[in-house]
Amino acid sequence: MYSSSSRDLAHRAHLTDSRLIVDLCGGTGVTAEAILSLAPPDARVISLDSAAAMQRIGRRTINDPRLSWAAAPAEDLAMHAPAHAVDAVVCNSAIWKTDVPAVFASVHRVLRPGGRFVFNVGGGLASVTHPDGQTGHTGPSLRSLIQQIAARDYGYTPLPTNGDNLKLPLPAITHHLADVGLLTLVDTEVTAPVHHHGGEEGMAVDPGICLPRRRLHPRTADGDPG
Ligand SMILES: C[S@@+](CC[C@H](N)C(=O)[O-])C[C@H]1O[C@@H](n2cnc3c(N)ncnc32)[C@H](O)[C@@H]1O
Repeated sequence: MYSSSSRDLAHRAHLTDSRLIVDLCGGTGVTAEAILSLAPPDARVISLDSAAAMQRIGRRTINDPRLSWAAAPAEDLAMHAPAHAVDAVVCNSAIWKTDVPAVFASVHRVLRPGGRFVFNVGGGLASVTHPDGQTGHTGPSLRSLIQQIAARDYGYTPLPTNGDNLKLPLPAITHHLADVGLLTLVDTEVTAPVHHHGGEEGMAVDPGICLPRRRLHPRTADGDPG
């Protein structure tokens, strides 16, 4: 699941000439691997995640001298990458778990002019639907399955959350982006999931954002310019 969305985002980040790339909330490095497969031989990739335990897995399994690891919150990205020097920030399956305005501000600080910020949001969280996602989803969501396994095998029950706080619809995203000066939304697309597991991870909105002064090119769900 994370591989295909990671490859999709890495592709959208246009990495061919990139020198410095950040894999934001990179976890075990699945997205970093997708980035490394497209990045030039002399590029540097920083995989940043707040969970050192996730990164320990990646450190063991990925052996590429271009990759370095930073165990830190995404909100502190600006302390781990040089200002206005990053060609692309890629964030797969995680942005809604962060303090979004703080992360966008940090991304703005590190991206070079014309750099790209590429991320996705689960369809349920973004309040979007895709025609392919409207049928056949009768099973439990991935989140619900994970919670069932956590309760059954580890006796862990997460604290209840207010689901509304997790919503991240496109208007809120564009508002947060504009607030920090990431003004140019070059592409959004509603995509169908590769693996249907139902629920909130089903679809993705993938805004590619670059700085500065490019035209707005939103795309509708069927790919036509909006
Ligand atoms: C679903 S995983 C995705 C990992 C990776 N991007 C991938 O595609 O394999 C979400 C990751 O976000 C990280 N994360 C969540 N909130 C974070 C934050 N505020 N700062 C840094 N990492 C965070 C978690 O530790 C976890 O590794």
